Amino acid sequence: MIKLLAAEEFKGRVALVTGGSRGIGRSIVLGLADVGCQVTFCYKSDHAAAGAVCQEAQGRGTAVEAVQADVGYSDPVNRLVKGVLDKHGRIDILVNNAGVFKRRPVVEIDDEEWDRTLRSNLYSAFYTARAVLPSMMAARRGSIVNIVSISGKRGSAMHAPYAAAKGGLMALTRTLAKEAIPYGVRVNAITPGRVATDMLQAYPPEEWKRLVAEIPAGSFGDPDDIARAVLFLCSDTSSYIVGETLDVDGGLTMD
Ligand SMILES: NC(=O)c1ccc[n+]([C@@H]2O[C@H](COP(=O)([O-])OP(=O)(O)OC[C@H]3O[C@@H](n4cnc5c(N)ncnc54)[C@H](OP(=O)(O)O)[C@@H]3O)[C@@H](O)[C@H]2O)c1
Repeated sequence: MIKLLAAEEFKGRVALVTGGSRGIGRSIVLGLADVGCQVTFCYKSDHAAAGAVCQEAQGRGTAVEAVQADVGYSDPVNRLVKGVLDKHGRIDILVNNAGVFKRRPVVEIDDEEWDRTLRSNLYSAFYTARAVLPSMMAARRGSIVNIVSISGKRGSAMHAPYAAAKGGLMALTRTLAKEAIPYGVRVNAITPGRVATDMLQAYPPEEWKRLVAEIPAGSFGDPDDIARAVLFLCSDTSSYIVGETLDVDGGLTMD
């Protein structure tokens, strides 16, 4: 008999989510905790937002752990992963969600902004995967989901470092998938469309009408739409999906 996504399969699984204090990451953290995962998430600097996620989880009868760690650098990532492994003995799920997004013409982007954007959106996923994969491969199970972007596929005016980072992350996803699947570890990606989070504030309000009008589904995505797709890609329901990039965008990119 075919069994579809069953919440019980997540009970006790250990999950690490980057950038879990706000927006899409927050929904992913709470979604994984709701189905019984032991979730640790990191954030860069917004302690209040991270604390609010922990409180929200508590209010729902679960517990999640927040750790301040800038995933754009390898030392904090290595400490973060070691902390989870020391505490739980394994990591079953890794979601590379942390990202930053600025709007600026390419000729105005300085070295510092280029570096910072690449670090948060791309280096981060390499550092976490490198730290987590040895234990996943040894356990011969695990799932990694990278949150990418349409701009990584199509390019995007005013977002050069972001688009370059997400394009790189898409290639990294397929590369990690090829290296990890012989060990039973699946790596996939999700492309959110336009999701109602703080990140959309990068656009001036007068552009929002146009941004929505271009979406066939007629509205911005909700962070929970992305969290549900993460649960699917981490579940046994998707056990034969490997190296895939799943568009969750209300039809924005369908041809
Ligand atoms: N929203 C959209 O429409 C959309 C569309 C396509 C793709 N995405 C992707 O979806 C992901 C989440 O986006 P979002 O809209 O939820 O963003 P958001 O609301 O701006 O939240 C970003 C999260 O990432 C964390 N973060 C950023 N840089 C970090 C770093 N170097 N180290 C650790 N944590 C870091 C932030 O922590 P602090 O608050 O502490 O800085 C925050 O928790 C991103 O990868 C984004 O590129 C979003």
